[in-house]
Amino acid sequence: CATVTYDFDVSWVYANPDGLQTRPVIGINGQWPVPTIRVTKGDQLVVNVKNSLGNQTTSIHFHGLYQNGTTHMDGPTQVSQCAIQPGESFTYNTTVDQPGTYWYHSHVRGQYPDGLRGPLIVTDPEDPHKSLYDEELVLSFSDWYHDSMTDLLASFINIANPSGAEPVPDSALVNETQNLGVKVQPGKTYMIRMVNVGAFAAQYVWFEDHTMRVVEVDGIYTEPTDADMIYLAAAQRYSVLITAKNSTEQNFAFVGSMDQDLFDTVPATLNPNVTGWLVYDDNKDKPAPKTLDSFEPFDDFSLVPQDKEDLYDHVDHTIQLDMKMDNLDDGANYAFFNDVTWIAPKVPTLYTVLSTGANATNPLIYGSNTNQFVLQANEVVEIILNNDDPGKHPFHLHGHAFQVIHRSDEDSGFYNPTNTPPFPRTPMRRDTVLVHPNANMVLRFRSDNPGVWLFHCHIEWHVASGLIATIIESPLDIQRQLVGSIPRDHLDACRTARVPIAGNAAG
Ligand code: C2O
Repeated sequence: CATVTYDFDVSWVYANPDGLQTRPVIGINGQWPVPTIRVTKGDQLVVNVKNSLGNQTTSIHFHGLYQNGTTHMDGPTQVSQCAIQPGESFTYNTTVDQPGTYWYHSHVRGQYPDGLRGPLIVTDPEDPHKSLYDEELVLSFSDWYHDSMTDLLASFINIANPSGAEPVPDSALVNETQNLGVKVQPGKTYMIRMVNVGAFAAQYVWFEDHTMRVVEVDGIYTEPTDADMIYLAAAQRYSVLITAKNSTEQNFAFVGSMDQDLFDTVPATLNPNVTGWLVYDDNKDKPAPKTLDSFEPFDDFSLVPQDKEDLYDHVDHTIQLDMKMDNLDDGANYAFFNDVTWIAPKVPTLYTVLSTGANATNPLIYGSNTNQFVLQANEVVEIILNNDDPGKHPFHLHGHAFQVIHRSDEDSGFYNPTNTPPFPRTPMRRDTVLVHPNANMVLRFRSDNPGVWLFHCHIEWHVASGLIATIIESPLDIQRQLVGSIPRDHLDACRTARVPIAGNAAG
């Protein structure tokens, strides 16, 4: 195993990815799109971040990494660290012990859709599908906005937008462009790693006349399963095998089509699709793709994990989250779990864990606005999520992949255990799952990873409007691991941000 080091100088650069508008975007080392992080399973990943934005703080989250023993490297600001102030540097250092397709993004409120988002690929020397493919490709899908997130957020959470209508994207991108051609060779099989790095829109993805064979979702290997079209919600990943045709007679489109059901209004000017090409021969035709309604989306609930891990068939700890959107006294629209909208605590929740001794097991010390749940070690935890909102929401849990054991259809209301089909014996695990409108889902995981982990909707608008819960897992174990060992640069981030942290966090 090796140490893989990246030096990221984060700064504003200009880009025009859809050819319609040049705008400032957040780049790395003067470049945008930002680089793909690549490591091999077992490697130590070190990312040295320098914040050269000048006018904004930043942080990096490695989406899907469990961060076992390193919850302080997870990235969400005011949760596991203070934000990196302009001019300051900060090092993330973690062991990557899981294979597959992940991504990294800023975890400062509202920032990643301005461009600070890229794939993170963990190669597996023991990849069980290795013999099935010749080459690998990475495709990142996303929505795109012409205005900056600062401006969009200011008008989103606003008395003039009491219904909470989310800003509608201006276009869709693949690999941060609208002109992607991927050279393919006849007869070869490609492993295509797809990531939705967007702010909001899920995308329906298909490859004209080529079947996708799903082999991984969110870092979990699956029994190979064929799909004509995949619904790729914000933050989700799918790896699929595609075998190229034997002839070079024509080229084939692949399409990402934004789910317009998510949008309150669809401007006439919006092209919801981004089209890329499997290029067999540059001189041959590029026939226009079929339309979205020619395909049926594949049901991710039908997937089976390759390791056949059994359903956790008893529950030690239930967390029920009833979510809704509503207005607060300021007239703006916010998002709520159990009537609480998340407000960033002044002191990062992790540092409260580290500085409060035996009191760290008392949820009340974490304040009234963090939707906090304290777990003990090795419980089977069940999250029941009731979506009392007419929108779809992709929910993500940090630090774990959960079993998706129940997900109801649209308009089925709150979860009712007496009226539910039997749970799958070998449920699929993933770290981001979509709940349907006015419907519910049930997730289970084992609390075997001490840390402070967010559970939130991955639509960045809803992160800003507070759709976040905080899971404080085995706080006394976190103390055993980390009191006295938070690195100096992490503590300095709080000092420059003028966040008072108790001496204990420093040891
Ligand atoms: Cu992609 Cu809170 O994360």
